Amino acid sequence: MALNDWLSNVQLLMRWLHVIAGITWIGHLYFFNFVNVPLQGSLDDATKKLVNPKLMPRALWWFRWGAMITLLAGLILFALTYMYTPGKGFGANSTFLDESGKLTARAIWISMGMLLGFIMWFNVWFIIWPSQKKLLSGKAGDKAAEIRKRAGFFSRINTFLSGPMLFGMLAPAHYGASNPATLLVAIVLGVIAIWWAIKTSAKVGTSV
Ligand code: HEM
Repeated sequence: MALNDWLSNVQLLMRWLHVIAGITWIGHLYFFNFVNVPLQGSLDDATKKLVNPKLMPRALWWFRWGAMITLLAGLILFALTYMYTPGKGFGANSTFLDESGKLTARAIWISMGMLLGFIMWFNVWFIIWPSQKKLLSGKAGDKAAEIRKRAGFFSRINTFLSGPMLFGMLAPAHYGASNPATLLVAIVLGVIAIWWAIKTSAKVGTSV
């Protein structure tokens, strides 16, 4: 039976919007890092000039707006899940703070996830996209190589952060217990998975 209270319905809608936008964002991030970086290395300059001005603006549009909607829907989801009690209004609820006023395990996990997600969103909007805009508009001039390197570096950082960030998104509602060891394992596993994917991306898919 469907729940008919407004909070459950709005929460589900925000959860869905958050995850579908997150897939769009991180999907493009992985396309850039696992597919496009190795591909670009194998293209000659003439092909790059033909392909990139058509490919990159499209891909970067979904990438940056995916990031924006993910953040906004994520913040609304946070407010409704941790900062709202029906009948009482806004303020930290029992999902965020326990009876003794300490952060719950769920709150600790989502704080880690949101911190990493926020850093990633910041990198997209204030470093990667402005750099790419300069490169694509031809305004980078003789700084092009430096700007490309900086954008690529922060894109790599975001790719590494995405591994632990996703543990921080999934653990709150589906795992619970949090202590320094569980957080450390999540961070290490997340980084190792991305490291493996980057290493593998240099070798796979060059033939069928
Ligand atoms: C940008 C900053 C982000 C913020 C502020 C944020 C916030 C949140 C919040 C508050 C939740 C609910 C946690 C709970 O139910 O206890 C959540 C869950 C989730 N988020 Fe994020 N998030 C961010 C980035 C991302 C990204 C980039 C993805 C990539 C796909 C993502 C995927 C998810 C998933 C899969 C869930 C779990 C949904 C569930 O278990 O029902 N989030 N996020």
